[in-house]
Amino acid sequence: MILTRHNVLRFLLSNNCITLRELLDESWEVVDHSSKNNNFSFISSSRGFFIKQYIPEGERFSYFGLKREYQCYLLAEDLGALNEAMPKAVCYFDDDNILITEYVTTSMSIFSYFREVDGDMQEIASLLGEELSKCHFLLSQSIKFSDNDVQFSSQKPSIFSPKKMSEGRELSLAQKQCIGILEKHRNLMDGLISLDAEWKVNGLIHNDMKLENCLVRFNTSKHISGVTFLDWEGFNTGDIAWDLAGIIEGYLTLLSSAMQRQAKKTHLFDHSKELSEISGQVRASLRVFWASYIEGSKIDAAYVKVLLKRVAKYSAARLIQSTYNKLENRNELSLDALLQIQLAHNLLAEPELNRQKLFGF
Ligand SMILES: Nc1ncnc2c1ncn2[C@@H]1O[C@H](COP(=O)(O)OP(=O)(O)O)[C@@H](O)[C@H]1O
Ligand SMILES: [Mg+2]
Repeated sequence: MILTRHNVLRFLLSNNCITLRELLDESWEVVDHSSKNNNFSFISSSRGFFIKQYIPEGERFSYFGLKREYQCYLLAEDLGALNEAMPKAVCYFDDDNILITEYVTTSMSIFSYFREVDGDMQEIASLLGEELSKCHFLLSQSIKFSDNDVQFSSQKPSIFSPKKMSEGRELSLAQKQCIGILEKHRNLMDGLISLDAEWKVNGLIHNDMKLENCLVRFNTSKHISGVTFLDWEGFNTGDIAWDLAGIIEGYLTLLSSAMQRQAKKTHLFDHSKELSEISGQVRASLRVFWASYIEGSKIDAAYVKVLLKRVAKYSAARLIQSTYNKLENRNELSLDALLQIQLAHNLLAEPELNRQKLFGF
């Protein structure tokens, strides 16, 4: 069945996700959040569900993302210590590709929190580092010590083979321009391709780590109480550096947005403070994020430097990948996109120097 706003309630009731009594005791609201998946929230004032359905398009029948996400949440529940770091799974329906999780109440995506609320970047960075290290450490241990039946098969990110990204797909004009820039700047293209040989399979990772997939939670006094990572469809064996780069890319795009705002002002001086303030905050946040991740993950000191080098280069790849994805359905490259490509280019061309400039360490 295909879920719609109108049949979600019937679906939850008939599958015993909610009882009639619970339904009648509170007032509930269904909201349609469909994007790449068919998504709905079903919430009351105290609790709720998040429902995701994947509808196969054409020949893509080999999809298993939502099942993988479900398996990840079950594993996390078994491990106990990750209950806050991920939503709790309610159930999964294989035939209809439907995953139901508990709704994380009084929360918002960190992406929106930074853009709409001008929220505290550093406090969030510290929580992200701490929780991500816990996820990597505990999930990766589970591969050795628990009898789970998840089939893992690490795949390298598609951005490491930029030519393949355009194969068999209808690209927007802006995406074609983006590929054109990569082709014209050989060192940028070669830099991305060279990452393929650097990939290490060293743990269980999220794979699609980005600020849009992270929630910040608030307590009853509206203070930050923690962070939760969502959307574990890509849960797989891979390089932990790739997840770290996903968070770092989120912070770097805050910087490129500030650069864009400054560039658009006619009186540059008026807004120079904003850019320098944001770049200071981004650097401080990246330092805090890195320190709290390293502290939590118990990574050998000798390996930290090696990891950081890879993370910086992967951050460049992440910048290009997210820029490219955002250009879907666009006719023209935006200034923001160009600035992100420029940041990526700098990081790939001179990783040490530009990492120190951008990250501040
Ligand atoms: N369990 C949840 N609790 C609260 N909000 C959620 C939950 N799951 C998803 N969301 C919200 O819906 C958005 C999309 O969910 P996500 O799992 O990332 O789906 P998609 O695969 O479509 O990106 C998230 O960015 C978040 O804002
Ligand atoms: Mg998502």
